[in-house]
Amino acid sequence: MPSQELRIGLIGYGFMGRAHSNAYCQVNHFFDLAYRPVLQAACGRDAAAIHKFADQWGYRSVETDWRKLVERSDIDAIDICVPNNLHAEIAEVAAARGKMIFCEKPLAVDVHQGERMCQAVERAGVRNMVWYNYRRVPAVTLAKHLVASGRLGKIYHYRANFLQDWTISEDLPQGGTGLWRLDIAAAGSGVTGDLLAHCIDTALWINGPIADVSAMTETFIKQRKHNLTGRVEPVGIDDACAFLCHFANGSLGLFESTRYARGHKALYTFEINGQHASIRWDLHNLHRLEYFDHRDESAVRGWRDVHVTDAGGDHPYMNHWWVPGLQIGYEHSFIHQVADFLESLADNREAGPTFREALETQKVCEAVLRSAAQRQWVNV
Ligand SMILES: NC(=O)c1ccc[n+]([C@@H]2O[C@H](COP(=O)([O-])OP(=O)(O)OC[C@H]3O[C@@H](n4cnc5c(N)ncnc54)[C@H](O)[C@@H]3O)[C@@H](O)[C@H]2O)c1
Repeated sequence: MPSQELRIGLIGYGFMGRAHSNAYCQVNHFFDLAYRPVLQAACGRDAAAIHKFADQWGYRSVETDWRKLVERSDIDAIDICVPNNLHAEIAEVAAARGKMIFCEKPLAVDVHQGERMCQAVERAGVRNMVWYNYRRVPAVTLAKHLVASGRLGKIYHYRANFLQDWTISEDLPQGGTGLWRLDIAAAGSGVTGDLLAHCIDTALWINGPIADVSAMTETFIKQRKHNLTGRVEPVGIDDACAFLCHFANGSLGLFESTRYARGHKALYTFEINGQHASIRWDLHNLHRLEYFDHRDESAVRGWRDVHVTDAGGDHPYMNHWWVPGLQIGYEHSFIHQVADFLESLADNREAGPTFREALETQKVCEAVLRSAAQRQWVNV
């Protein structure tokens, strides 16, 4: 085990609190690194619940107020796993205390907050990273390498979807534990910041900047009971969003996300069409990358279904796992992100996406929402 500790202070113990804790626990078992994350403190407002979580994962201590956590001198990095409206304030205070910061996505609820967060970490000179974890799914990383190598040739089309169906019932309330995503005050937006932000981050990473967008959004259920007030209140989030865009490289983009696609739970897919070749990826089959190359001999030309599990060196990250042919899953993307961060720390490099990079995704989200509200094309 490496001797250099990176003492983590985790805020929020829900879905992402668990995903990140698992990554911290696993990373040194599979990657040779100079640093070792230490579960120093977990923070949540409910004392009984955070004690139970800390016991389950092996955190050394707990806090019930995030302000106390960020003041502690025995914490090196703050990990923000709370609803979106809390990211900015925690990050600004943590940066001022000289902490490294890992922040969940989307970076903030809007560009203004995101810009403040960037300035805070840059002013303090602290390392920072945003958990756009899909970049570290081996098949997605391979897609990035294939496009960057020029193998697809000039890119013409980028198409992405993120489809779910869990908010269709009119009886589902908004706000509070588990349902903060439906509350505009906590989430900042609906599917645009929650789901499309992932698609946009991947797209910017693989295909470069987006120049302008034309979007439509819809809120199918206009009012829901609010768990915090007990009253029926207007719904402020977008239930569905679709947008067209121009990338700076001349390619066209088409993005769609909804929580009203009956039958789909978390169907994130993208397809990229280039002059010579196309690639296609699907989160429900995340270890596979489909690839078509027009330069293949015509008799056998067709879509290949690449099982991205080659541990021999050609498939990103896979040499850290099992023998060729055996798969890994969703949680490994977080382990890879921690591994990349710890490697970059040892090498004095940055591990992306930084706050500044994630701000680009925030800008696209904001342009999308503005375009939908104004019913016109908007420059990013
Ligand atoms: N990278 C991804 O794929 C991914 C997936 C899901 C969520 N997220 C992001 O992660 C963040 C958290 O989402 P989640 O799904 O884990 O939510 P969640 O509802 O499961 O957990 C949120 C946690 O925050 C805690 N919390 C709320 N207010 C708090 C406060 N004032 N102080 C301390 N703790 C507080 C809650 O008690 C809970 O433990 C969001 O920003 C979300 O967008 C990212």
